[in-house]
Amino acid sequence: MIELLPWDTEFFGFRVGRLHADALTHLVASEARQWCRSHQVSCLYFLGSTNSPETPEGFRCVDERATYAWESRSSEEISPSVRPFETEDLEELEAIARRSHRDTRFYADPLFDRKRCDELYATWIRRSCEGWADAVFVCFDENRTAGYITCRANSIGLVAVAECAQGRGFGRQLVRAAQRYFWTKGVARVEVVTQGRNHAARRLYERCGFREKSTQRWYHLHV
Ligand SMILES: CC(C)(COP(=O)(O)OP(=O)(O)OC[C@H]1O[C@@H](n2cnc3c(N)ncnc32)[C@H](O)[C@@H]1OP(=O)(O)O)[C@@H](O)C(=O)NCCC(=O)NCCS
Repeated sequence: MIELLPWDTEFFGFRVGRLHADALTHLVASEARQWCRSHQVSCLYFLGSTNSPETPEGFRCVDERATYAWESRSSEEISPSVRPFETEDLEELEAIARRSHRDTRFYADPLFDRKRCDELYATWIRRSCEGWADAVFVCFDENRTAGYITCRANSIGLVAVAECAQGRGFGRQLVRAAQRYFWTKGVARVEVVTQGRNHAARRLYERCGFREKSTQRWYHLHV
């Protein structure tokens, strides 16, 4: 029912686990707390439905997770401001990643050091560029790196536009590039996940033809 997460544990410097259960009942929560105490786990993640009647003691809801889907179809050509990632882009992409993902559940939880959260997203984009993603597209505002989008299997992973370039259509150009990529690869249905509180991302996906399919909640238990 609980798995230890070695990568998160090593990265954040305290023991992290994940609870798998159908529902966060008081019994499940109490057993989970005991298990964490006896295994020195400081933080436990749980992804559950939005219908849970109440939040058991110790757990806090840190994110509403919204999943959007788009049924693939022919879409416009990739904008000339967007091209596939090249190695020389990496440093700029890491810098954008460090500042861009502040709506995610890690920043919503004071247990997680903000500088480590910044590094989490820098690491995520670096690994994506190193082959974890199937494709990474980068957009440019004249000659300046303005943002990125990553694609893996049938999903969009990370998307961000540097603050100084936001609101000028780069996000849309990046999502359009990903849509074109998925369509040319024969992917029938594309998914992307974002946070309920992330109005900019939700609007962006909706404007690109994605529709919300489901919502869930992330909970963190501190022990
Ligand atoms: C989400 C993000 C990529 C959007 O990029 P952008 O370049 O500003 O987006 P665009 O200019 O292409 O705008 C696309 C649509 O979103 C809307 N939008 C952009 N920012 C918005 C905001 N802060 N609030 C509400 N809507 C917003 C735009 O108005 C536009 O819709 P419209 O055509 O109806 O006017 C950008 O805000 C960002 O990098 N945020 C931080 C990283 C992030 O949250 N990534 C998504 C994680 S899943």
